[in-house]
Amino acid sequence: MKREELYSGKAKTIYKTDDEKKFIAQFRDSLTAFDGKKKSEASKKGYYNAQISRKLFEMLEEEGIKTHYIEMVSDTDMLVDAVEIVAIEVIPRNIAAGSITRKYPIEEGTVFAKPVIVLDYKSDEYGDPMLNEDIAVAMGIATYEEIAQIREMALRINDILVKYLDEKGFLLPDFKLEFGRKGGEIVVADEISCDTCRLWDKSTGQSMDKDIFRFDKGDLSKAYEEVARRIVPEIFE
Ligand code: C5P
Repeated sequence: MKREELYSGKAKTIYKTDDEKKFIAQFRDSLTAFDGKKKSEASKKGYYNAQISRKLFEMLEEEGIKTHYIEMVSDTDMLVDAVEIVAIEVIPRNIAAGSITRKYPIEEGTVFAKPVIVLDYKSDEYGDPMLNEDIAVAMGIATYEEIAQIREMALRINDILVKYLDEKGFLLPDFKLEFGRKGGEIVVADEISCDTCRLWDKSTGQSMDKDIFRFDKGDLSKAYEEVARRIVPEIFE
């Protein structure tokens, strides 16, 4: 059962439950971008993202990749393991877009010969600066072994998602993963949704992700609904 609020992030609120080893993550309709400078709401966004995340976590579990996902307890509320979050944002990149095209002389749309894994320090205070293994270990946020395992998991997840989303008519230029420690194990945490991925429609090239909000590219709720129709058609039956 849902107990007191533990933490409210930009798009999800985490609640304690009766079981100290489990939390409830509630996916909200709120949207933020550019370090919280731009804010809005989009109808049903929380619902679509929760269901898309649920489906992708289930799929990863079927492939033998451990996640924090346990079950949905409502349309927008996900019961998850209470993991200790590793403060690293792991971004597999397949096609250049977003920050990598601003920070480096890499043109948007460049297809990488092999996936590029970017590690950022998850910290609003420091503006999520890029990390390498040595800095992460020096800060004490992870061990070399954990980072090696996280990279390997990120590459496998990227492979699985690229293939799956291709079948659904999407390109996956990049996405963000977070990991947590559950007992001695590293598991996938947070969410995998339209808010945390770049998804381009394969036939039109249009963004069907949070870039619609970041750069005023159209109707976000409509695009997220279309993504949900392709990934979780069962919720429309
Ligand atoms: O902004 P940037 O191009 O580095 O983002 C790369 C990918 O990671 C995008 O899919 C973006 O939605 C995701 N991301 C995220 N949360 C962040 C930073 C990036 O979900 N804090």
